[in-house]
Amino acid sequence: MIPMTTDRLLLRQPDDDDLAPFAAMNADPEVMRYIGDGSVQPPDPDRAAAWIARARQEWDERGHGPLSVVVRETGRTAGWVTLAVPTFLPEILPAVEIGWRLGRQHWGHGYATEAARRLLEFGFAECGLDRIVSIRHVDNQPSRRVMDKLGLRFAFETVVPAHGRPVAVHEITRPEPHPRLP
Ligand SMILES: CC(C)(COP(=O)(O)OP(=O)(O)OC[C@H]1O[C@@H](n2cnc3c(N)ncnc32)[C@H](O)[C@@H]1OP(=O)(O)O)[C@@H](O)C(=O)NCCC(=O)NCCS
Repeated sequence: MIPMTTDRLLLRQPDDDDLAPFAAMNADPEVMRYIGDGSVQPPDPDRAAAWIARARQEWDERGHGPLSVVVRETGRTAGWVTLAVPTFLPEILPAVEIGWRLGRQHWGHGYATEAARRLLEFGFAECGLDRIVSIRHVDNQPSRRVMDKLGLRFAFETVVPAHGRPVAVHEITRPEPHPRLP
C-alpha cells in the first residue's frame, strides 16, 4: 500500500531526501504561522532527521503516520501529510487527525488536497478508522478550504492547552458503502 500514488504525487515514507526540504519548511515563518505557538525552528538537519526517525516508528507502532509528498514530475519533496494522534488536544482523544504541511513554493497547486484525499481513503479503507478529525488555527483559511474540499465538516472551536491558541476541529466519518442495486 505504501508508497501510494495520485495523478501528480507520490506519497512515501519520509527518508533522507527530505531532510533539507523539511528543515527549510520548518524555518519559514509563513509556513509555521498557524502551527503550534507559531514559532519557527532554525534550519536543523539533526532535528529533521529525528522527526523522520519518529515518523517511521509511528508507522511501525500504529499502521499510520507521516508520508512525504513528492511531485512525480520533478521528483521534489513538497512537504508531508499525516494521519497522527493529536496528543496536543487531550479533550478530543481518542482520535486520529489528518494534517498537512508544504513548502511555500508548492502552495496553490491543489497538492495538499490531492495528497490528503488519498490519505483519507487509506485511513478508512486500510486502517479501519471510523472517524478522522482535522485541527486548524481559527485564522488558517487555506487549511479551512482544504478541509471543506475534502468534506471535513466544522465540529467545534476550542483552545490548545499548551499555548492557548484558538483552534477549530473538523471531522469526517467513514463513508457508507454504496447500496447494492437490486
Ligand atoms: C495549508 C496548506 C497545506 C495548503 O496547501 P495547498 O497545496 O496550497 O492547498 P490546496 O491548493 O489543495 O488548497 C488551498 C485552498 O485554499 C485557498 N486559499 C489559499 N489562501 C487562502 C486565503 N488566504 N483565504 C481563503 N482561501 C485561501 C486556495 O485558493 C485553495 O482553494 P481552491 O482550490 O478553492 O482555490 C499550505 O498552505 C501550507 O503548508 N500551509 C502552512 C502549514 C499549515 O498551515 N498546515 C496546516 C495546519 S492545520
